[in-house]
Amino acid sequence: MRKPTNPFIVSGYHSPAYFCNRESELAWLTEQFANERNAVLYSWRRMGKTALLKHFFYHLEKTNRGEGVFVDLLGTINLTEANKRIATAIVNRFGEMGSGLGVRLLKLIGAIGATVGLDPMSGTPQVTFGLSNSQSIPASFDAIGNFLAERKKPVVICIDEFQQINNYEENNAEAVFRTWMQNFPMIRFVFSGSHRGMMTSMFSEEARPFYRSAQLKSLEPLKPDKYALFIESHFSKGEKKIARTQVDKIFVWTRMQTYYAQLICNKLYSKGNVVSDSLLQEAYTEVLQQEIPIFSTYQQLLTAFQWKLLVTLARHEAVANPLSQDFLSQNSLGAASSVSAALRTLEKKDFVIYENNRYILHDTLLMRWLQSI
Ligand SMILES: Nc1ncnc2c1ncn2[C@@H]1O[C@H](COP(=O)(O)OP(=O)(O)O)[C@@H](O)[C@H]1O
Ligand SMILES: [Mg+2]
Repeated sequence: MRKPTNPFIVSGYHSPAYFCNRESELAWLTEQFANERNAVLYSWRRMGKTALLKHFFYHLEKTNRGEGVFVDLLGTINLTEANKRIATAIVNRFGEMGSGLGVRLLKLIGAIGATVGLDPMSGTPQVTFGLSNSQSIPASFDAIGNFLAERKKPVVICIDEFQQINNYEENNAEAVFRTWMQNFPMIRFVFSGSHRGMMTSMFSEEARPFYRSAQLKSLEPLKPDKYALFIESHFSKGEKKIARTQVDKIFVWTRMQTYYAQLICNKLYSKGNVVSDSLLQEAYTEVLQQEIPIFSTYQQLLTAFQWKLLVTLARHEAVANPLSQDFLSQNSLGAASSVSAALRTLEKKDFVIYENNRYILHDTLLMRWLQSI
């Protein structure tokens, strides 16, 4: 594989050399796999769940212990779409270019009512589905399960952004996935998601189908010392220099949200040989500028009052008691009841999260931008 020009990867996963630490998390995932347990990985967005899962797959396949299938449910709205995503991921993963798709894979494609052809541009297999109705969903899940269970090597299927199923049109989506998992004990499932509350309640509430059916792990920010070493060593390999004090400033500015720290380092790496305060400022500005078009559309998703509350929370960075009289009057927010309702919407829409007894913005960059306007 070609080496990246910039060692600070900002999309996807390359190889262990460009991935910082996560040793204990990798060991944990490997242990769940080795002992036939299903796993749940959750954290706020952009901390590194997807990258960690790809890192896990890399090791699994390198050591020949198993095969990984990665499915992302982001944007799916019902079981039919989930089913298509899963089938497509499987065909892309196991369909060999050149040597054809194999008898088993063709059988699977037939069983789920799909057809397959080659994409004329890329030459990769393309799955096309007929107009399937929801009746065929269980049968289709079954066919997929059989296919995976019959592979020679153990298969891990990772279903990313799994909290999405909470918003599906069907109200039995959880039960359908749970039955699927139960019917195929020899397939390993890893569910990951970026809504901590939704993920933990799905797997730990007694009345829910997934109750106690998997091991849960919360992905914490990278350890500052390890991450600083990683950053410094990549700078020095490229004959560049960044001081630890600058690295610490990046950690504060990004609140250790991995993606943004990577983004800043990526910019700095391309900018000069010695990182100075002014270079750092330049990188912050550039990164913010890049996101403004997206951020400004957020305003339309919220009422004027919700937006005002969001800006207020951003300016305070973390607020323990947004309903206290002091906070309300200092920020002219009016009645506690309206703040409470707005807060619920902001949480539901994932703008605001409640952690360590404080309300904070989910997205660090959005927070920095709101602080600057
Ligand atoms: N341990 C890590 N070392 C280096 N870069 C990482 C690490 N974890 C995540 N990243 C980077 O951060 C980006 C965002 O991480 P991602 O896995 O997409 O987060 P999540 O899935 O939690 O939203 C990734 O594309 C990757 O470039
Ligand atoms: Mg992800």
